[in-house]
Amino acid sequence: MQVGHANATFLRNCWYVAAWDYELIDGKLLARTILDEPVLLYKGESGKVVALENRCCHRAAPLSLGRLEGDDVRCMYHGLKYNPAGRCIQIPGQETIPPRLGVRSYPVIERDRLIWIWTGDPAAADPALIVDFPYLRDPAWRGVPDYLHYKANYLLIVDNLSDFAHLAFVHTKTLGGSEEYAYTTKPVAVERLERGFRVKRWHMNAPPPPFHRKVVRNDDRVDRWNVGHMHIPGIFFLESGFAPQGSGAETGNLDGAKQYRNCQFMTPETASTTHFFWNYLHNFEIDNPTIALSLRNSLVEGFMEDKHIIEEQQKVLDADPSFRLLAIGADAPLAHFRWTLTKLIAAEQKMAEQKTAAE
Ligand code: FES
Ligand SMILES: [Fe+2]
Repeated sequence: MQVGHANATFLRNCWYVAAWDYELIDGKLLARTILDEPVLLYKGESGKVVALENRCCHRAAPLSLGRLEGDDVRCMYHGLKYNPAGRCIQIPGQETIPPRLGVRSYPVIERDRLIWIWTGDPAAADPALIVDFPYLRDPAWRGVPDYLHYKANYLLIVDNLSDFAHLAFVHTKTLGGSEEYAYTTKPVAVERLERGFRVKRWHMNAPPPPFHRKVVRNDDRVDRWNVGHMHIPGIFFLESGFAPQGSGAETGNLDGAKQYRNCQFMTPETASTTHFFWNYLHNFEIDNPTIALSLRNSLVEGFMEDKHIIEEQQKVLDADPSFRLLAIGADAPLAHFRWTLTKLIAAEQKMAEQKTAAE
């Protein structure tokens, strides 16, 4: 699959994260491009979330410049009013409304503070297909939700999260802790799944990485583990733990272990830009709000290190689209993910072609 070019294709029959709930407070009309499509997101008076094509069917003014009226939105150019289904329900000064007047409405669901949008055939939008991250609603875990915008194709971010190899070099002073991490961790166990993969990595008797040291306020050595789970279309969950060195965490004793649960949702904005939603949760001292803030700040610092290298990588790829990348051993998970996604996209396109041919 080519990355970062105008002809890049996306998996459409899929739920993507469109926003965090806090982005839609106070009647905000949020304009957001998703999979190259202009979308308007808002929460109507009833509290229901609405996602409409952000382009008035009359003269293409963005509806995000319009006015919220109950659960409806009025275009503030010539006053056409749309309901949450995207139907035009009023044309000021005109009695009859031709039924073809309207904009596309997207299936949208709010769950665990995330606003999910379905970008494909609305008839196939099954809420059961939303990838679940139960820690977001579990009071035993605390975090601060956040958002970053990347000037890079979403798959470059997926690649980045697929390998722990870069922790040691990109994040030596933030999330990694030492370059030694690249050489002395136990081999990564990779589990290939139908819609993604899971990787597990242990690092025994390690110094605590800076982000963890800041919140536990000691330098005690730790046995450290990371279990990453990447889901189609670009959703990453990471379970991490730090146990006192030699305490037997690897064989199941979690006494004194401090744990984290991290979710990251990559939603393509365009072929070369990405919306990145994330939350890094912890399960200790949850009455102390400064822990979640410290972790958020550390993670932003870490992500900026990734963002820098990934955005520069995108520029290099853009400069020569014919360049072929070569794989190393650590790339097995990302190669599997791309293969899986390419297959799903191909199947989806074949179905769409058959449907068009039958019509
Ligand atoms: S452009 Fe929206 S009403 Fe004319
Ligand atoms: Fe990283």
